[in-house]
Amino acid sequence: MAKLSVNDLDLQGKRVLTRVDYNVPMAEGDGAMVINDDTRIRATLPTLKVMIEKGAKIILAAHLGRPKGERVDSMSLQPVAEKLSELIGQTVAFCDQCVGDTVTEAVAQLKEGGLLLLENVRYHPEEEANETAFAEQLAANADIYVNDAFGAAHRAHASTVGVPTVVTGRGGQCAAGLLMERELQFLGDELESPDNPFVVILGGAKVSDKIKVIDRLLEKADTIIIGGAMAYTFKLAKGFTVGKSLVEPDKINVAQAALDKASERSVQFLLPTDNLIAEPTEIDGKFAFGDYRVNDCENIPDDMEGVDIGPKSAEAFSEAIKGAKTILWNGPMGIFEDSRFAEGTYNVAKAVCEATATGAISIIGGGDSVKALNKAGLGDQVTFMSTGGGASLEFLEGNELPGVTALNDK
Ligand code: 3PG
Ligand code: MG
Repeated sequence: MAKLSVNDLDLQGKRVLTRVDYNVPMAEGDGAMVINDDTRIRATLPTLKVMIEKGAKIILAAHLGRPKGERVDSMSLQPVAEKLSELIGQTVAFCDQCVGDTVTEAVAQLKEGGLLLLENVRYHPEEEANETAFAEQLAANADIYVNDAFGAAHRAHASTVGVPTVVTGRGGQCAAGLLMERELQFLGDELESPDNPFVVILGGAKVSDKIKVIDRLLEKADTIIIGGAMAYTFKLAKGFTVGKSLVEPDKINVAQAALDKASERSVQFLLPTDNLIAEPTEIDGKFAFGDYRVNDCENIPDDMEGVDIGPKSAEAFSEAIKGAKTILWNGPMGIFEDSRFAEGTYNVAKAVCEATATGAISIIGGGDSVKALNKAGLGDQVTFMSTGGGASLEFLEGNELPGVTALNDK
């Protein structure tokens, strides 16, 4: 059932507690914390603009990092208030608490269309414990609750589940923001009934992280492409040698079961047939890769590690992607953070963008594949990039997200 939308609400003069995912990467620079990537902040602008137009008094709640219930200065949301002010073109007030009298006072100062960002909800251990008394404190100054934090919707915390429970309990409305709606549309509805051919590209380190997604998508996909280190567990299952590559030998049976299911269902299952391999070694006492080269063969030599797909594989993968009408991509093809081993991931990224340009819907399932696309400067050439990491994966596995369940139905 569709969830109530922020578009459905009358917000004139209402105090709207809005959960956003502003868990953005930061680094210290010149004694202050600097935001490295503001994608998640930008992604909430459409929701905020709608609420501003509707005359809402907007109270933003978010977490940053994992401060484990204590005030950790480097995890303050203050720099986010500054960044958001800049992006939205109006001053965003910041309150260095998320509950209590100072919040009540700050909310009382809010004008219609005004914005206030509260301090990190995870400074309180009651947030992750989803304690009702804390949820009531968070909800104390709110008439309405909106959740735009898809990236945190897999967490049953006070700000994602406790607050909407409290607000609903007293007869208030709890709705999805526009980002939340788009995430649910693309990772949910579009993949529920994809236009065929449906090509799924999965990468990343571990089969165990992705097996539930593979299993579920084997019911829908025409082609599944596997890259990244998880491919080596599949190669092991098929009897090839993998040298020093990252593998999960205890997951060979799981990999084999997926291969069997694919052949039963006539799903094309593509694994790399060549690889870039590198020699794991030590430089100045630290792990590093030494010599590297293309290994134009299914077996990887004993002393070498697979670090990317090879050119033949990239071509075969690109060919399959080209014919797609719907594409889901989650996880890189190799260690793309190292520019020597990024080509396979970039070639797949290019193929996804080319297919999109000729009419395919392309959905990027969050995390590292989004990073890779942005690094390649191709982030604006796909249909949708999820802002979720763990949340996207759990949702793609077919799990209910507690933060979504807690919202009112339409
Ligand atoms: C994320 O970055 O994936 C979300 O903000 C959730 O953060 P968490 O994994 O610390 O709960
Ligand atoms: Mg469809």
